Amino acid sequence: MFETVIRHTGQLSVAELRELRDMLEETFGPRYDQVAWEHCLGGTHFLLRYQGQLVSHVSLVRRLFEQDGRPIEGVYGESMATVPALQGKGLGSILAAMATADVLLHYELGAFAASKYHFYERLGWRKWAGKTFVVTDSGRRPAAPDRGAVMALLPPGTVIDPERDLTTDWRPGATFAGAPK
Ligand SMILES: CC(C)(COP(=O)(O)OP(=O)(O)OC[C@H]1O[C@@H](n2cnc3c(N)ncnc32)[C@H](O)[C@@H]1OP(=O)(O)O)[C@@H](O)C(=O)NCCC(=O)NCCS
Repeated sequence: MFETVIRHTGQLSVAELRELRDMLEETFGPRYDQVAWEHCLGGTHFLLRYQGQLVSHVSLVRRLFEQDGRPIEGVYGESMATVPALQGKGLGSILAAMATADVLLHYELGAFAASKYHFYERLGWRKWAGKTFVVTDSGRRPAAPDRGAVMALLPPGTVIDPERDLTTDWRPGATFAGAPK
């Protein structure tokens, strides 16, 4: 009845991409624009199907992070969503837990612009305590997420200091990494 699938964007068919975009537009509403869609592509998609229908999604997309000049192997969480009719039943938590495990196993850092802190905090994510920056054409500038805070996940034994500056690459659109203050 339930099926979880992990796919790189390049492994999704045109029909599957259309289905994913339709689901995200239904869940987020008009704020889900072309830029938001492009942000969720180019990485690993965690997909949950119920009776064949796509009902929940999150993706992890590689970004260029650095701290004190040291590059960080990190990913950014994008387009976490469960269709409205099935929210509050634990489906989003299943995918968030799968994405959390992927970060812990394969990366030095997971980051996410989120407002539902509690949803991620119970999986070990914490608000980034230090300052956040983005590298633009005009240099390194302070940056902030478009909503809430930057949530971060660091594997045990990390050398990354969550109380110090975190810098990432610029990209179009709002969100940490896209929106200088
Ligand atoms: C945020 C979002 C992805 C969560 O997805 P979800 O599938 O509803 O997530 P869950 O059901 O796992 O958890 C949501 C709540 O339901 C509760 N819940 C989990 N299992 C449950 C169950 N079996 N019965 C009742 N409630 C349950 C969880 O405790 C959680 O409540 P809490 O956050 O107050 O603790 C979803 O609400 C959504 O798509 N929102 C709109 C898009 C959005 O804003 N995305 C960005 C998020 S930063």
